[in-house]
Amino acid sequence: MSAEKIIPGCVPRHVAIIMDGNGRWARKRGLPRTAGHAAGAETYRRIATACSRRGIEYMTVYAFSTENWKRSGEEVSAIMGLLKKYLLEAISSMERENVRLRVLGDTSVLSPELRELIARTDEISGHLTGMWANLCVNYGGRDEIVRACRAWAEDPEREPLTEKVLSRYMYGPDIPDPDLIIRPSGEYRLSNFLTWQSAYSELYFTDVLWPDFTEEELDRALAAYARRDRRFGGVKQ
Ligand code: IPE
Ligand code: IPE
Ligand code: MG
Repeated sequence: MSAEKIIPGCVPRHVAIIMDGNGRWARKRGLPRTAGHAAGAETYRRIATACSRRGIEYMTVYAFSTENWKRSGEEVSAIMGLLKKYLLEAISSMERENVRLRVLGDTSVLSPELRELIARTDEISGHLTGMWANLCVNYGGRDEIVRACRAWAEDPEREPLTEKVLSRYMYGPDIPDPDLIIRPSGEYRLSNFLTWQSAYSELYFTDVLWPDFTEEELDRALAAYARRDRRFGGVKQ
């Protein structure tokens, strides 16, 4: 654990991270962008373990957006290759580490091999009790809302539309909204991440590029979160 003090009772239940800056990290080193993604995947492994150790119940990371298909075929395949590697690894380690894995996003366009691996991790998650590690792949916040509306409209048993009802049609209906969203890499935007769920999330930005993100950085974000005054539109007594 780092020197940053974490105030007990103020640990967010759900932390979401936009894993950004892999390409710039690689460029700074004269490496191909794909090397940045490989380094970013390592950071993800470390930070997932750190979150689980800190008692965070849900960690959701943005791994590939609905807009990231605009990138070169080579880069997209490298990211999908890293996803495959990670899923294979998770299949053999999640029971030992008691981490439940879930992929959020439109997985229908992923390769049959990836979809099969995702199905296997879902099966394993079913009998575990630990932290939920949610991986957003081919995920777009607006896409998720449109899909939810469509699913609601096509549901013969639909209830009258309210915020609560529509929430049930999102990718992770049982996942609480993120308390804290962290975006590294010096960009100050959400880039279509958790558009519906981020309504009252605390936002934390840092210039650190994702592959350089450390446990200390995580603790800085958690400490900043602990100092926030969340009012949800109300007034503190
Ligand atoms: C984030 O890093 C990973 C994905 C979007 C898949 P980037 O690849 O966007 O890195 P930068 O923003 O170009 O540095
Ligand atoms: C957001 O990063 C998506 C992921 C980290 C997976 P981008 O690099 O795609 O976002 P923009 O293009 O800078 O907004
Ligand atoms: Mg980026």
